[in-house]
Amino acid sequence: MQANGHDDPGQANQVPPVCEFLEDLKGRRAVVTGAARGIGEAVAKWLIMAGADVTVVDRDAEHLKESFRTEGCQVIEADLYEEDVVGVADELTRNGPVELVVNNVGITTPHRLLEIGPSELDLVLGTNLRGPWLFTDRLVKALIEDQTRTPDRTPRPRGSILFISSLHDRFVAREAHYSVSKAGVAMLVKAMAKDLGRHRIRVNAISPGWIRTAEDTSTPEQVAKYARLRPRIPAGQAGVPADVARVALFLLSDAWSGYVTGQNIAVDGGLSLHNWLDE
Ligand SMILES: NC(=O)c1ccc[n+]([C@@H]2O[C@H](COP(=O)([O-])OP(=O)(O)OC[C@H]3O[C@@H](n4cnc5c(N)ncnc54)[C@H](O)[C@@H]3O)[C@@H](O)[C@H]2O)c1
Repeated sequence: MQANGHDDPGQANQVPPVCEFLEDLKGRRAVVTGAARGIGEAVAKWLIMAGADVTVVDRDAEHLKESFRTEGCQVIEADLYEEDVVGVADELTRNGPVELVVNNVGITTPHRLLEIGPSELDLVLGTNLRGPWLFTDRLVKALIEDQTRTPDRTPRPRGSILFISSLHDRFVAREAHYSVSKAGVAMLVKAMAKDLGRHRIRVNAISPGWIRTAEDTSTPEQVAKYARLRPRIPAGQAGVPADVARVALFLLSDAWSGYVTGQNIAVDGGLSLHNWLDE
């Protein structure tokens, strides 16, 4: 069986109808964390548009319910740092395994290196790396168990896991704990991709550059940051959550990226190409 879901290479090489992109995600069980706003909200809404059976998770229940008021999808209120992420994963798999996982939750605290103490370190590494790791581990094990229990099921269950990392997984941010957590995520993606391929599970990451979310447009600090960054973005402007969502759907869909795993795609309008030495 090819990674892209075909038995024979000739068939795998055929040009599919373009709409196979959407068909491929239809009915697939998916979860998106940190979906109440920003990038997570966009990815979840694009998945819903593609017909996936989506569960959204966020600690901000009010905002989450408001954002998905008309979508009719499953909503789980959970703090993926404070609560037992394994328990949340078990709640998700009660009615069957989840094939599409989007680990989007990510936070930082406004501390420079020497100000970071154990509580900031625990919070940022716990939220950005440890939590998504254990959450995904549990979901993957449920999927593998399902594959083993029902070996003849068609279509055979597959998995596609996506982590939302950051350009700071390779460039040092003002907040060192944030960079370290995202660098960990980037390596986790490679390690998972290497070990899970034989279970028909692909694992990839997206590294957003600067994506303007609704909360991110009005403060004087943001206006100043935008003025500073804009000339360094070859695309000429910051991105929007939908820019990330489109690439997320591409990476989640076996029809489009079934032979792609262990990759980390920058969605940054070229910001990471900037050569700081030439300034
Ligand atoms: N926006 C950007 O420019 C940018 C750039 C690089 C990377 N990223 C990454 O993209 C992801 C999303 O960023 P965003 O800007 O859309 O974030 P955001 O702050 O707008 O939204 C994050 C969501 O996650 C939820 N959340 C936070 N901690 C949680 C927890 N412990 N449990 C459950 N829910 C929790 C929040 O309630 C919020 O709804 C993050 O991983 C971030 O590091 C964003």
